[in-house]
Amino acid sequence: MATPSLPLLDVQGLTRRFGDFTAVDHVTFTVQPGEVLGYLGPNGSGKTTTIRMLCGLIKPTEGTASILGIDVTRNPEAVKPHIGYMSQKFALYDDLTVLENLQFYAGVYDVPRSEEAGRIGEVLRMAGLENRTNAFTRELSGGWRQRLALGCALIHKPPLLFLDEPTSGVDPVARREFWDLIYELASGGTTIFITTHYMDEAEHCTRVAFMYRSKLLALDTPAGLKSTYLKGAAWDLATTPLLETVELLSGTEGIAQASLHGDRAHVIVKPGEWTPESLTEKLTGSGITVQSVETVESTLEDVFTLLAHSS
Ligand SMILES: Nc1ncnc2c1ncn2[C@@H]1O[C@H](COP(=O)(O)OP(=O)(O)O)[C@@H](O)[C@H]1O
Ligand SMILES: [Mg+2]
Repeated sequence: MATPSLPLLDVQGLTRRFGDFTAVDHVTFTVQPGEVLGYLGPNGSGKTTTIRMLCGLIKPTEGTASILGIDVTRNPEAVKPHIGYMSQKFALYDDLTVLENLQFYAGVYDVPRSEEAGRIGEVLRMAGLENRTNAFTRELSGGWRQRLALGCALIHKPPLLFLDEPTSGVDPVARREFWDLIYELASGGTTIFITTHYMDEAEHCTRVAFMYRSKLLALDTPAGLKSTYLKGAAWDLATTPLLETVELLSGTEGIAQASLHGDRAHVIVKPGEWTPESLTEKLTGSGITVQSVETVESTLEDVFTLLAHSS
């Protein structure tokens, strides 16, 4: 029998308060080596505060976190060589070149002098920056800056990488290419903890954690989340008039959300509250003509909507 591998990251009851406000509320989870964990949630839900605690930058009010068995709170310095962190406002030095930024971070992360040139070469190749080594950082486009920031966070080859909204504000093409890089890193054995508010990106993670109002509401594979929370609960309705349908259903008990999806009304139904027949009857009773009610494949956005409405 295979022995279960030790979690790379083990988080138990992690909590952070700022005065009376609880920014992260008893969050518990583990991450296995090689996973790409997507940490999702709206602005202000506690994602960055979680990462800052996991990187040893701020202390938890309660709870523990360990990385490779090392307690982050008690021993933040011992954790440092094992983690890379690309923060939301990653500091690149605009007046330095690409190469100089990498050299600077090699120093910050104590890369041995004998290994520095080799590591910088690897990172430049990985990020596709070989032809830009002497470019000033201020001249780089958003997509290239982001790749350089990633390279700087990886310069010491950490087994665990924290990325805090690395793709926000980057154009869709650069976003896709950045995700290709993330997969490449993961297949090379780097474990990745990435926050995002792009639901389409979450679909590509090994597992997805949903943060909402400081609490971790769910954590599972994308397929697992959909089958647990949303079996048959996402419907597309063809009706006339459509807009009135959405308005009526938005205020209806048992409907987590109703929105326009092209020429359909997309509806998330709380489990057990409605059937296609009973909903058709309700709409018809309000003078709406229902052409069809179809169960559709749910998205992670649907799952999140339902979870947020039920919490
Ligand atoms: N140093 C701080 N002092 C007071 N409140 C803070 C501090 N840092 C974060 N917060 C609050 O904690 C909440 C969660 O913030 P954050 O973790 O940055 O959320 P997210 O990254 O999900 O957008 C927010 O309401 C924020 O204002
Ligand atoms: Mg944040």
